[in-house]
Amino acid sequence: MQFKVSVIGAGNVGATAAQRIAECRLADVVLVDIVEGLPQGKALDLLESGPVKGTDVRVEGANDYEATRDSTIVVITAGLARKPGMSRDDLLFKNFAIIRGVVAEVAKHSPEAILITVTNPLDAMAQVTLKTSGFPKNRVVGMAGILDTARFRTFVAQELGVSSDSIQALVLGGHGDTMVPLTRYCTVAGVPIGNFLDPAAVDRIVQRTRGGGAEVVKLLKSGSAYYAPAAAVVEMVESILLDRKKVLPCAAYLEGEYGIDGIFAGVPIVLGRGGIEKILEIPLDPGEKQALESSAASVRELVGKLKL
Ligand code: APR
Repeated sequence: MQFKVSVIGAGNVGATAAQRIAECRLADVVLVDIVEGLPQGKALDLLESGPVKGTDVRVEGANDYEATRDSTIVVITAGLARKPGMSRDDLLFKNFAIIRGVVAEVAKHSPEAILITVTNPLDAMAQVTLKTSGFPKNRVVGMAGILDTARFRTFVAQELGVSSDSIQALVLGGHGDTMVPLTRYCTVAGVPIGNFLDPAAVDRIVQRTRGGGAEVVKLLKSGSAYYAPAAAVVEMVESILLDRKKVLPCAAYLEGEYGIDGIFAGVPIVLGRGGIEKILEIPLDPGEKQALESSAASVRELVGKLKL
């Protein structure tokens, strides 16, 4: 069966994710955007890279949702990106309106799809996606934890001068300044990080990870990160389509797990053809639990403003 992945928002994150999905031959790709010609132009350009890259998946661009019909997965990146000095929360109301409209169309055309929300503020927009689509909670998942974890792994690898491939880590909680890097579970080839780095160095890396998105925004001056976010999306898409059941930190709707109820937060999940097949509850010490609770509280405060 040939899968179809639709990507809503043909901007930096959406187009980069589309490129990687097509180049990995994971699925046919449909790009949708409100800007006339943009998704069609990028889709055509991407399609024409096929003969060179040795990929012949179909790539199509559209301004409406007909072409997305019966998608296996829909990735939602539509919305505004952060500008320097802007927090993810500043985007709240603008992106709320956009996501509501987008998800209503997506759900109508692909009622069986798995939805991956990328638009910020992530945890709140994932909740808007769940509510608007009316889909079961296993079919709505937010991308953030993989990105935050990848940043953490990159910084640890740089500090130690080893491959980032040898660093395992987990960043939980909301995708924002209150995210919770679980340093206790970070290992270098399975060996706890405390054997290699002193607490001050680990703390520096935690702080840099928390500000990882802002660091890129500041350098770019206009727009926000997209290579790493798109890579994280594609890892999720691949785990779902190929039913790899990878354990990945993603935003999931929690109903009591980790003592959190009725909001999305980043937790380790098993991601496969059934979407979120399982939420893994790992043991947390009191400090970690407290950090996760306060991260959840800030997500709850934001979601509360939306009066969903
Ligand atoms: N329907 C479809 N597309 C839309 C809509 C809409 N209602 N509103 C905006 N868009 C499109 C824009 O036209 C633009 O092409 O969404 C795209 C967003 O692209 P960028 O501005 O390049 O933003 P990007 O860097 O891709 O980030 C998108 O992901 O990581 C998050 O914070 C980021 O919320 C932001 C989102």
